[in-house]
Amino acid sequence: MVKIAPSILAGDHGNLAAEARKVESFGADWIHIDIMDGEFAPNLTFGPGAVKAIRNAVKIPLDCHLMINRPERFVETFAEAGGDYITVHAETVTEESLRTIERLISKNDKKLGVAFKPSTELSCLQLSEIDVSLVTIMTVNPGFSGQKFMPEVLYKIDEAKRSFRSRGTEIEVDGGIDLSNSRSVCERGATVLVAGNSIFGQLDQKKAFEDLKKIASLYNN
Ligand code: DX5
Ligand code: ZN
Repeated sequence: MVKIAPSILAGDHGNLAAEARKVESFGADWIHIDIMDGEFAPNLTFGPGAVKAIRNAVKIPLDCHLMINRPERFVETFAEAGGDYITVHAETVTEESLRTIERLISKNDKKLGVAFKPSTELSCLQLSEIDVSLVTIMTVNPGFSGQKFMPEVLYKIDEAKRSFRSRGTEIEVDGGIDLSNSRSVCERGATVLVAGNSIFGQLDQKKAFEDLKKIASLYNN
């Protein structure tokens, strides 16, 4: 079954623990936490304290999406704060720094993710020798919740499936996911759907979650 990872960026920042508990009670598989530095991404969001508060509130895995430059400075901080998947952006690493990051993450028994902006090709990094547990394909530009889904990025899901699926790597699609596009994303082979506005931005959030989950549960990727 394809997993749903509600993006807490779209939730109430004054009540992060309660927001996390709420989506866990709906049946969320992971919680997606967008970490931005105001430099790589044009927004400032959460630090390790927020991740710790969310960690203490729920049991499901925390998917920390680091949209920050020089992520090697902070991967251990977010691992220690309670992140399970620590995802760095392909545009912010070299093959050498990624190997350092891989070591830091495995030392902390966490999982490494690599994310790609819409304009970045998966082939920009040689990942065959790196233990990548998650590939995040962004279908909006980093920065904000509620942006419009970019269908022109869909082809990367096929590529990710070809290159990574046999290694058991999760394929996550992040940005603008809603009821209108989740089928095509699942059909292509996504294994995790990130959803911010299409859950937290709805009047009936439980129903919005369940409608998305219903679609996700039709696919066995
Ligand atoms: C964008 C973030 C996304 C965003 C998703 O920079 O990486 O995770 O929160 O939110 P929606 O689903 O509203 O596009
Ligand atoms: Zn994200």
